[in-house]
Amino acid sequence: YPIEPDLSSCGESTVDTSKACMNVPCCPPKLKDSKIIDFEPPLGCKIRYRPAAHLVDRDYLYKFESAMERMKALPVDDPRNFMQQANIHCAYCNGAYSQVGFPDQKLEVHYSWLFFPFHRMYLYFFERILGKLIGDPDFAMPFWNWDSPCGMTMPQIYLDPYSPLYDENRNLEHQQDVVNLNDGKSVVKQKKKNDDFDELTKREQIKRNLCVMYQQMVRSSKTASCFHGAVYRAGCVSETDIGCTPEPRGGTIENGAHLAVHKFVGAKNPPYNEDMGNFYSAGRDPLFYAHHGNVDRMWNIWKTLPGKKRRDFDEKDWLNSSFLFYDENANMVRVKVRDCLDSKTLGYDYQSVDIPWLRSKP
Ligand code: C2O
Repeated sequence: YPIEPDLSSCGESTVDTSKACMNVPCCPPKLKDSKIIDFEPPLGCKIRYRPAAHLVDRDYLYKFESAMERMKALPVDDPRNFMQQANIHCAYCNGAYSQVGFPDQKLEVHYSWLFFPFHRMYLYFFERILGKLIGDPDFAMPFWNWDSPCGMTMPQIYLDPYSPLYDENRNLEHQQDVVNLNDGKSVVKQKKKNDDFDELTKREQIKRNLCVMYQQMVRSSKTASCFHGAVYRAGCVSETDIGCTPEPRGGTIENGAHLAVHKFVGAKNPPYNEDMGNFYSAGRDPLFYAHHGNVDRMWNIWKTLPGKKRRDFDEKDWLNSSFLFYDENANMVRVKVRDCLDSKTLGYDYQSVDIPWLRSKP
């Protein structure tokens, strides 16, 4: 059975860490006319290219910031408002919805084959809304190029406290550090007495990150279930799959670099490590969308790597699973996984940059 969120079931989200638990309201604003439109891929052949965040110029930044400012300034009950957008993640990731047909089963989009499709479509509508707000349907949002040496620190454009791209709920100590794609802890920082040594460890961290990328993208993700994660059908909890190391449920990138970056950016404050350190609040940090841009880019790259089994699933339960989003015109749209397999069909792709980890076989 394919999975679909039951809109009418939306209730409070449960945020649970080993240390604490709370309920938060994250449901989207009520439908005005209960009309849900089936998604149609956009017509037209122009492709928008999402740029690497560390390479954008001032004109681009100006546009992006104005779009974000406008999104934050929308009425709070407008589904396109920034906080409403952030709450989408909270609702889909902290059990606000039940599955259509299975009122006892919560819907969770992490740790399974729903991970890449859900986040792709989430970002897609976020980007369409930004474009609409500045009257530029060709606007493409930036991605955080953390898999490449020049992109391994938080992109500068997100660090200006006066910018709408800033978020104070972050680990400020990590602002200038090289991310550790292995587990999100900064090792460079611990050795900061001597500057030369610091440079050396930075270089060392970069080298290790490239090996981590090779490991997760090439060596350990030769099949769809290794890359995408476990099968997840309506009515059952996600089955574990054999053959993926080290964690069987989420895919290699989801469990690896993806979670590491979340941890690296999120504040140290227990128990929830907002914003990026917890799914319920992660979407409140503008950097989230750049982070997931790169995660999404990994899906595109993965499909170009050699190997007969390195293909998306072809199971109906996956292809027909669906999500609901408000689009740039505030209409509710139903998108199926089958609609989002190719980013070009959706009208976007990524700026082509060097992929150094392809040469970083450990
Ligand atoms: Cu839905 Cu990076 O998480």
